[in-house]
Amino acid sequence: MVRGRSLAPKSGPAPGAAPASSPHRGRFDLAEFIAANLPLRPVPSVPEIVIHAAGPASGLWRLARRRDDADPPYWAYPWAGGAALARYFFDRPETVRGRCVLDIGAGSGVVAIAAAKCGAEKVAAADTDENALVALSLNAAANNVAIETIAGDLTKGAPPAIDLIAVGDLFYERDLAERVTAFLDRCLTAGLEILVGDVGRAYLPRPRLRLLAEYPVRDFGDGANAARKPAGVFAFEA
Ligand SMILES: C[S@@+](CC[C@H](N)C(=O)[O-])C[C@H]1O[C@@H](n2cnc3c(N)ncnc32)[C@H](O)[C@@H]1O
Repeated sequence: MVRGRSLAPKSGPAPGAAPASSPHRGRFDLAEFIAANLPLRPVPSVPEIVIHAAGPASGLWRLARRRDDADPPYWAYPWAGGAALARYFFDRPETVRGRCVLDIGAGSGVVAIAAAKCGAEKVAAADTDENALVALSLNAAANNVAIETIAGDLTKGAPPAIDLIAVGDLFYERDLAERVTAFLDRCLTAGLEILVGDVGRAYLPRPRLRLLAEYPVRDFGDGANAARKPAGVFAFEA
């Protein structure tokens, strides 16, 4: 993606396309489902961005019934860590302005969209869930920004040729957190800057993080009237 180069595997799906291996092809169209059932809503704490977010009437369970191995639809909600990181970009646009940014574990794309709206030269968003990339492409279009989507697990590969890696709420499982931390270590050695947004999930590598800012945000699963929780934006350091 950087300097005219793309990070995406040549065989990757087109943004917004249904994954080739998915039974969502044919009569069922995920993009249509999202547009019809997940209304565009401003992201709590980041009202500059709207995303297709699930509500009680969205019927997300209909997706789970279509595929036994479906990933949980994390892309249907904004997460606290991502919201904090997106807020940070709007408050300090110089963090991303003119830079090439990768949002890893992008979900709905809140972090990537914030980077793009705050003047990043190029933004890529990676997720292992191809459904997330369908939602993310719709969300990018709704916010009038261009984002390159990358399907797959970049933590297994070499550091990408970018300036900044943004990690929103990706430390919620032990194995995943260990893989992400090892990848970020390689990226740090390669000279990349790494920012993490997190609300204090169980496997957050705290000794490696320096707090830059804190925001009160609504977390996934909290009701509209729930108290906001402090979520941090951290620099990942050696
Ligand atoms: C908790 S959600 C956070 C989404 C978004 N960053 C936010 O803050 O709103 C985690 C996302 O990471 C994705 N994910 C999990 N493991 C991954 C991996 N190894 N590489 C890329 N994405 C991954 C999931 O599919 C999910 O969309």
